[in-house]
Amino acid sequence: MEIKKNYNLSKLNTFGIDVNTDFFAEIKSENDIEELFSSPEFKHYEKIFLGGGSNILFTKDFHGIVILNKLKGIEITEESNESVSVRAMGGEIWNDLVLFAVNHGYWGIENLSLVPGTVGAAPMQNIGAYGSEIKETLLNVETFEVATGKKKIFNNEECELGYRDSIFKNKVKGKYFISAITLKLSKKENKNVTYRALKEYLENNKIEIHNSKDISEAVASIRNSKLPDPKILGNAGSFFKNVFIKKDELQKLLLEYPDIPSFEEKGLMKIPAGWLIEQCGWKGRKLGNVGVHEKQALVLVNYGNATGSEVFNLANQIIKSVRNKFGLELIPEVNLI
Ligand code: EPU
Repeated sequence: MEIKKNYNLSKLNTFGIDVNTDFFAEIKSENDIEELFSSPEFKHYEKIFLGGGSNILFTKDFHGIVILNKLKGIEITEESNESVSVRAMGGEIWNDLVLFAVNHGYWGIENLSLVPGTVGAAPMQNIGAYGSEIKETLLNVETFEVATGKKKIFNNEECELGYRDSIFKNKVKGKYFISAITLKLSKKENKNVTYRALKEYLENNKIEIHNSKDISEAVASIRNSKLPDPKILGNAGSFFKNVFIKKDELQKLLLEYPDIPSFEEKGLMKIPAGWLIEQCGWKGRKLGNVGVHEKQALVLVNYGNATGSEVFNLANQIIKSVRNKFGLELIPEVNLI
């Protein structure tokens, strides 16, 4: 396997930030993993595992090794009358796995249509959209331990999946390389159309759901109507996480801001970060080469030749103004390097 030196990453991050890494390698097989994990460059340098580059902001050149997961393959490993287990390699594009599922008529990940990124990155942040999370269908995650090169399988519980969170972002950050995942999908109708924006879209367009593909297509058109295409406008989807607060904290905020939207989730109240940012006057604002998207205030965009620091500075200004106005703390969803 070739380890490239001084490699440009602008095409490998959806923000389109022009930075270099000292070393770069692509993993295309399990043999590559063994070879790479025992090489001196790998052992001694700081490492970043990259999938679609859709959840990362490079603020400077990287002095270490970037490893791109290019492991490919999708297969059915078990099947019954009710369900099917689908194993997908980490380098597959997440939406290709969604299309595989809906084209076979399987249910479970249709609400996650068009979530950017790769299969290997999906459990890292427990991807979620339109009322669904990968947590609901994930059976297990296959990994290689970085220090030893040994294979380890994490079952659903061991992944400690939370809102945009997992053990791979916390306790064992950087310690495991995700090679494959297996999902349990349903062959029986199992639709989830309670998320407000999805429900309204289906009602307004008089769409009846006959199969998982119908949901997938509806979700894809909602996403396309408000989220910018990174091929045209550099971005990494939601830059911040939504904010979760206790009910009594919400009651206090409501006294001053009676219009504040909130959604109950798992005993807490979710306040949409997009609303908070919009209320601070950021939506659609442009600052030099960077800005806040005009249709979804959670998305920061690169209008051209932005540096990672410009995006980072904008993010910090937004955090500050939300803190000053509402006393709430926005936390980036995107990994900052
Ligand atoms: N809102 C505003 N102004 C905005 C944006 C949103 O007021 O500019 C408020 C509205 O009240 C709206 C509510 O936020 O009803 C929810 O908006 P939306 O349905 O667009 O969802 P979100 O909470 O802003 C989350 C995910 C998205 C996912 C959507 C749809 C996070 C951080 N983001 O956004 O995920 O597509 O739900 O389910 O949880 C991503 O992670 O990159 C991503 C795009």
